[in-house]
Amino acid sequence: MDIEIRPCASAEEVRQALTPIRHYFGLSTPPTEGQAERLTRVLPAERVYAAWEGGRAVGGLGAFSFHLTVPGGRVPAAGITVAGVLPTHRRRGVLRAMMRGLLDACRLQGEPVAYLWATEDTIYGRFGFGLASFTAEIDLPRERSAFRTPFAAAGRVRLVALDAAEECLATIYHRAAAATPGMFARSSAWWQARILTDPEWRRGTDGDLQCAVLENEGRPSAYALYRMNWAFERGLQTGSVAVIEAVADSPEATAAIWRYLLDIDWMARVRAWRLPLDHPLLLLLAEPRRLGFSLRDGVWVRLLDVKTALSARWYHALGSVVIEVIDEFCPWNAGCWRVGSGGIDRTDEAPGLRCDVSALGSVYLGGFSWTQLARALRVQEVSPGATAHADAIFHTEGAPWCPEIF
Ligand SMILES: CC(C)(COP(=O)(O)OP(=O)(O)OC[C@H]1O[C@@H](n2cnc3c(N)ncnc32)[C@H](O)[C@@H]1OP(=O)(O)O)[C@@H](O)C(=O)NCCC(=O)NCCS
Repeated sequence: MDIEIRPCASAEEVRQALTPIRHYFGLSTPPTEGQAERLTRVLPAERVYAAWEGGRAVGGLGAFSFHLTVPGGRVPAAGITVAGVLPTHRRRGVLRAMMRGLLDACRLQGEPVAYLWATEDTIYGRFGFGLASFTAEIDLPRERSAFRTPFAAAGRVRLVALDAAEECLATIYHRAAAATPGMFARSSAWWQARILTDPEWRRGTDGDLQCAVLENEGRPSAYALYRMNWAFERGLQTGSVAVIEAVADSPEATAAIWRYLLDIDWMARVRAWRLPLDHPLLLLLAEPRRLGFSLRDGVWVRLLDVKTALSARWYHALGSVVIEVIDEFCPWNAGCWRVGSGGIDRTDEAPGLRCDVSALGSVYLGGFSWTQLARALRVQEVSPGATAHADAIFHTEGAPWCPEIF
């Protein structure tokens, strides 16, 4: 039977389009109408593509509309999500066909960048996505969590009810997100539908979602969303704090909110996922080894429109570099581009570097340097010295960070 790829036309169709990815979570039914309604507040039906066979969705793929922070600016970006194809229809090109339809639509709607979290690192490279950041996990015994120098936090932490937290958290988040490549702006709908909600299925064995806010002279400067998982064995505490998200707008506030989390009584360990590669705890702690800091791939970035995407970034005023881009999936990007603070333009000049478009995705947020890519044979230096020169032009401070999986 033929498979038709098209966007959903209603919340009911979105429910159907989510059944393939839900299959992999062990669920055989579509989301409830209430769940679908909450999702469509942040993911309208026309932003969800599905593969239809005989009136039934066998695949789904969606794109949130984000404003992604990049070095020196912000850019409209498609946040790719809910990718799933039923096992009965795998490896027949269904994902490829949905990706074609969705990415083309995103580009036409003025989103020059797409980005995503990948469940498997083999899936998205073929579509031009490049690994663009790392994400770190920690599991720290509380008794080994002392800072290397005495620390007295300025300000006080108070607990805030989830239904009263949005305004305060959004202010702090906005300041942090505007300065951190990889973060995206959150709408009120996003806060309500995705962040300040505590459905049973998200908890696992952990407790309720808690919200703590650090205030200094009435000004909120950091917050933490976390869950307590209490446990005792023979009278000794063995439970842990699971940090969902801790965001601050200054180094002092970062240290203070983490000190709060590390000092919660009854807990034996503090666990967190989705920390940036250069998290300050590595240098704040007296024993950073105790963090058990471990890395894996973070977000993957795809430039849908090379000129517009690269123009949204900041570059050092150190001249420019000509990059020859190879792009099979989006051939309009292919060719030579002069890139620098003077602008991004097509050129007939000989390239200094030659690479697949996925390499541009890797350097876009500042997560990788051209030198790192060259060492991994991901970029070809056509003109001697071009790699180092490109690094000087693309240089950024700090690792990109996306604190949530979408
Ligand atoms: C990942 C998934 C969506 C792929 O769907 P699909 O329809 O089988 O993919 P396609 O047939 O369009 O594959 C396109 C290409 O990607 C390859 N590919 C797809 N999924 C792959 C995977 N998991 N590992 C390695 N290669 C993969 C295919 O071999 C094919 O290669 P080709 O173009 O060289 O022939 C599907 O397997 C799935 O639903 N997996 C479980 C849920 C999941 O992981 N979703 C991703 C969430 S981020």
